[in-house]
Amino acid sequence: MSPSKYPAKPQTFASSTAETWSGRFSEPVSEQVKIYTASVDFDQRLAFADIDGSLAHARMLAHVGVLSAADLQDIERGLAQIRVEIARGDFAWSIDLEDVHLNIEKRLTALVGDAGKRLHTGRSRNDQVATDIRLWLRDAIDHLLGQLRTLREAFIDQAEKYADTVMPGFTHLQVAQPVTFGHHLMAYEAMFARDAERLRDARHRVNRMPLGAAALAGTGYPLNREYAAKLLGFEAVCSNSLDAVSDRDFAIEFLATAALIMVHLSRLSEELVLWSSPRFGFIQVADRFCTGSSIMPQKKNPDVPELVRGKSGRVVGHLMALITLMKGQPLAYNKDNQEDKEPLFDTVDTLAATLSIVADLIANGLTAVPERMRAAALEGYATATDLADYLVRRGLPFRDAHEVVARVVREAEGRGMTLEALPLAVLQQFSPLIQEDVFKILTLEGSVASRNHTGGTAPEQVRKAVARVGLEATGKG
Ligand code: ARG
Repeated sequence: MSPSKYPAKPQTFASSTAETWSGRFSEPVSEQVKIYTASVDFDQRLAFADIDGSLAHARMLAHVGVLSAADLQDIERGLAQIRVEIARGDFAWSIDLEDVHLNIEKRLTALVGDAGKRLHTGRSRNDQVATDIRLWLRDAIDHLLGQLRTLREAFIDQAEKYADTVMPGFTHLQVAQPVTFGHHLMAYEAMFARDAERLRDARHRVNRMPLGAAALAGTGYPLNREYAAKLLGFEAVCSNSLDAVSDRDFAIEFLATAALIMVHLSRLSEELVLWSSPRFGFIQVADRFCTGSSIMPQKKNPDVPELVRGKSGRVVGHLMALITLMKGQPLAYNKDNQEDKEPLFDTVDTLAATLSIVADLIANGLTAVPERMRAAALEGYATATDLADYLVRRGLPFRDAHEVVARVVREAEGRGMTLEALPLAVLQQFSPLIQEDVFKILTLEGSVASRNHTGGTAPEQVRKAVARVGLEATGKG
């Protein structure tokens, strides 16, 4: 099939049997069309969600009297066996049966006969697949929330450890004002706390049940949708059948949140790359997160953060894929929707792997080098704003103080000195308001300690922030 001299992606499925709807058709579907339209090679990941959904549907049908108790028993027995076969890896997936739903239904019928053929009463693959994805994604979100919690705990622990460690804070990547490393780490904790909030919020809209919408219009059977929803742990049923089968907003919202999480991880990674480079030398990343170069023996490359940065592009791409997938679709279900799965699956896989490795790196692979941070903060006249504020407290308008300090900085630069090293007499040439007590505020420690309000960088505030989010995380706050 491939014109290339390199083989195409391997085709692992046998083909033979007729399609489920073949009665309507005068010729079988071409081999090429079959391969092009099938989804079973990737949607088999939904198998257990599909079985859970089918069980709830069958139990609901029996509950309202559409299915006999005997048929329900057969279906339960058959699905239990199929679950075991899939878990063991000896379920024979077939591309002739197109997708996960038809594969499981065919096997069920082979195992239990007519009861298997009755399972699809009052249901379509359209509401079935939408239900499966929601069940699957709900589970994935719960796992990711646990991972985000672990990552936040890593930041909290490190922030506590480095609450007093002074480093330069940057704007425009120029030294701006001294901050504490603990404060900087807690900035990331704040981002991931918002991400968890977003995920929990999106989960409510994932957690609604399409089953009962059938193909698009609902069904004539006296279904009890609320009963099935309860069995599956859904918070509500989707309120409109057309919307139920065609809505993928819930997946887009999830992907948007996932993309944002990856962007946060990517920003962090960018800083880890910078900080660990010998030019900065602010941190050391444990060797097990780095690799060497195949040609330059001296190199120690921060591959993990670099790959995290790279993989963020892939997840943002998946968001674009899914949002574009939806934009031209008329109501209700269209086959386009089959393309929703791979971006979703790959996003969850990429995000889960990334959260896991970054949490490990932050908790166990990150060591600060306080001397280097301190030296960099001293180089950049980081306490210039503190000197201006000092003059303001002595009555000078802020704009004038700004001007005075700009001239002091130029003087210090000319002498190759830090601000705190300038003799008092020299400082007083720029303003008679400057007194001996100025040296307290010109130190890095004095500067950070003075920013002692909620959200400020003072060590005391870092400890308060740590205590605050620690309480939230344990549900006591
Ligand atoms: N494999 C399909 C999907 O992923 C299942 C639904 C198919 N429905 C249909 N009417 N062809 O969307």
